[in-house]
Amino acid sequence: MWSNRFARSFVSVLIFITILLVSCQEDVYPTDNEQLSHEEQIVIRFSHVVGENTPKGMAAVKFAELIKERSNGHVEIQVFPNGVLYKDGEEMNALLRGDIQMIAPAISKITTLVPEWSVMDLPYAFKNADEVHTYVNSDVGQSLMTKLNAHNLFSMGVWDSGFKQFSNSIRPIETVQDLNGLRMRIMPSDVLSEQFSIVGAYPKRIDFNTVFHQLQRGNVDGQENTLTNITSKNLHSLQDYLTVSNHGYLGYLLLMNHEFWNSLPEDVQTLLIETLKEVQEWEWQLAENLTAERLEEMEACDCIKIYNLSDEEKEEWESAFEPVYRYYAENYGKKYIQALPKNQSQH
Ligand code: SIN
Repeated sequence: MWSNRFARSFVSVLIFITILLVSCQEDVYPTDNEQLSHEEQIVIRFSHVVGENTPKGMAAVKFAELIKERSNGHVEIQVFPNGVLYKDGEEMNALLRGDIQMIAPAISKITTLVPEWSVMDLPYAFKNADEVHTYVNSDVGQSLMTKLNAHNLFSMGVWDSGFKQFSNSIRPIETVQDLNGLRMRIMPSDVLSEQFSIVGAYPKRIDFNTVFHQLQRGNVDGQENTLTNITSKNLHSLQDYLTVSNHGYLGYLLLMNHEFWNSLPEDVQTLLIETLKEVQEWEWQLAENLTAERLEEMEACDCIKIYNLSDEEKEEWESAFEPVYRYYAENYGKKYIQALPKNQSQH
């Protein structure tokens, strides 16, 4: 009888401990990465095309570190920079096939799928990054985000590279007319193509990772990019003239394949979103700081002639680029242009 009572108590305690352990496990990630089987661990392969010394490159590494730490290794983000895994033009298909789980392409490159996004490429659409962030968070910006769903894409946020500048090896670019006849590398975006065509330049779509060689071989005379991208690939070493024009925004959408996103447990989705919010703020500040640093370095190096457009000159450039806005409106409607911060007071 004593042993029966003991056995019953022992079984009750055992059940209690089992229930306790199971309920604790629901929200707490396993603490030892080594003990996780490959199936238990969630691996997110994050591919991008720029160097690790750029705002995007550094933010990707920070994001991966934070996620690893906060999930106790349950979620691992493997970052592949510099197009080592997939190059421009390959990474989107790789994401949609499910070969990789995350990319952060320049918004200009998304315009081949969703051309309305090329509103972000319009010259002098935004004065600064704050205006960009406000626009993207507005109803109109969110409706652009929604358009990605039809392509099985889920956007988790926006990172900045900064504002683009012109460089070339033929002549200083001080007026819009100076672009006439120049062969300029662009990202794949019809609006960027139009931006150069209307001023008599010849736009050439070239993958980011081959720009250096194309400039070196003389296949193009110049290019437009942010200072962090230009210096990360040492493009300025091949160019004689830089115009600080800040004429266009270059930023990224953090994208996952929708199916993959939906397959993630809810707590992992929350962890990714919350961490990205934090990293996004950090990345925006980093992009601003690095851009200022790179400009100082270029001014000090005496390796390229720099021309700074004045505010009055920028206004002239903006007017000269008006036909690009007409091109956009005719092809994709006025809605996205009317919602730009600079047009807000008129509506
Ligand atoms: C990037 O910043 O991801 C590359 C942009 C470009 O192709 O110029």
